[in-house]
Amino acid sequence: MKPAPILIASLLKSESPLPSVLVRGWVKTRRDAKGFSFVELNDGSSLASLQIIVPEGLLGAEGLKDVSTGAALEAEGELAASQGKGQKWELAARRLNVLGPAGPDYPLQKKRHSDEFLREKAHLRARTNKFGAVFRLRSLCSYAVHTFFRDRGFLYVHTPIITGNDCEGAGELFSVTTGRPGGEGGCPKPDSAGAASANASAPADRKGGAAGGGFFGKPAGLTVSGQLEAELLALALGRVYTFGPTFRAENSNTPRHAAEFWMIEPEAAFFDLDDDMDLAEDFVKSVVSTALREGAEDLALFDSFVEPGLVSRLEELLTAGWARIRYSEAVEILSSSKASFDYKPEYGSDLQTEHERFLCDVHFKGPVFVSRYPASIKPFYMRQEEGGTVGAMDLLVPKVGELVGGSQREERMPLLLARMKELGLDPAAYWWYLDSRRWGGAPHSGFGLGFERLLMFLTGVSNIRDVIPFPRTPGNLEF
Ligand code: 4AD
Ligand code: MG
Repeated sequence: MKPAPILIASLLKSESPLPSVLVRGWVKTRRDAKGFSFVELNDGSSLASLQIIVPEGLLGAEGLKDVSTGAALEAEGELAASQGKGQKWELAARRLNVLGPAGPDYPLQKKRHSDEFLREKAHLRARTNKFGAVFRLRSLCSYAVHTFFRDRGFLYVHTPIITGNDCEGAGELFSVTTGRPGGEGGCPKPDSAGAASANASAPADRKGGAAGGGFFGKPAGLTVSGQLEAELLALALGRVYTFGPTFRAENSNTPRHAAEFWMIEPEAAFFDLDDDMDLAEDFVKSVVSTALREGAEDLALFDSFVEPGLVSRLEELLTAGWARIRYSEAVEILSSSKASFDYKPEYGSDLQTEHERFLCDVHFKGPVFVSRYPASIKPFYMRQEEGGTVGAMDLLVPKVGELVGGSQREERMPLLLARMKELGLDPAAYWWYLDSRRWGGAPHSGFGLGFERLLMFLTGVSNIRDVIPFPRTPGNLEF
């Protein structure tokens, strides 16, 4: 009888030899010696592979040919103490069965390939050590996100992917259409007067189906943020968070922007801006410490091959409180520095990537929260303060720049309405959002963290395309 298959990660942790085990995976390498072949088998469950000893004659010379790099196979035999260095256990094969051969044209023959080459092979790159490690860490961190919020009483909520609003107001919505006549349309302008009735409370004609054209009866797009919907839920459930795909039609081909990325957005009733920064700091520290604890083997690969010193950089992060400065102080630090910038730092303009990098990489040499930006460079929903600033905060981290953007939200109806008018937003299109302030509105805050940027920060990987399995960037939709 065949033994039940077992994952290599568990086998390698075995306390004792096992007389009969069955493993399945893909061949990393095969080396032939006198009387034996050594096969490195990896099944994705860990960075480490299992060495399989294949006695000459088990398959014959013809059969052995199919046991080549990339082939899928199953092997049965005894788990025994390894004779070789570098591993505790090896498998002495009694039976070996090739499930899917991979001939000499298998594209990943070499030990190391460039990231650029592997981007062209995104359908296969998870089989390399580096990308296997990235995607295992991605999974581990997803679990750490849920654990963190669950432990603090935050409810996981699902906000829509198809939306009628452009939360950030930056015009980066992808439009959603059926592709059928009548379903087509240009870029949606959901906030325009034509998109909603002039009546600011629930208009009757809203229930009228698709009469206004297109599937939804109004322009639809892919969400740029679940925040506005999360706010509504926070004002009922108290503490909530989203963790889902987010889309931005930014035509910026940078190493930090993707058209499709995953964002984590907590939103908490009764939190002010300081609570919000405390939450963001605790959150990032908690995910980093889970990765250090449970992803040590994979992190060590990045420490060796991607960013020497990575693990100690991450460990140091956990020991101290992170710097917190106001935007005005950030501008002062930048203007009085001797660094030469392409964009002159000036009060009232947004911080550029070069400014963010200077603040965290050079000046603070660590993460820094920058808060209280001028209202003029921030979206409509942020809480207004005296002196023309808003209760906003960004968390900037070395290597990546902006990791988190958040704010306390404007809960005061007259101020919110005034700001929307200033920005040319039609309050009628936001009647559902404004209702949350109309009845039982309360102070509340939240933030958004780009999951891929967190993974870049954690692994030292410098291009966002290399921390997501199938990157979506301008001109890139192959896989
Ligand atoms: O700063 P952003 O635009 O903030 C919001 O969307 C708020 N509504 C969030 C909130 O308060 N709930 O985006 C938040 C974070 C950024 O700091 C960045 O980490 C990430 O999302 N992000 C991107 N990541 C990858 N590719 C892109 N194109 C990104 N745009 C934003
Ligand atoms: Mg931002």
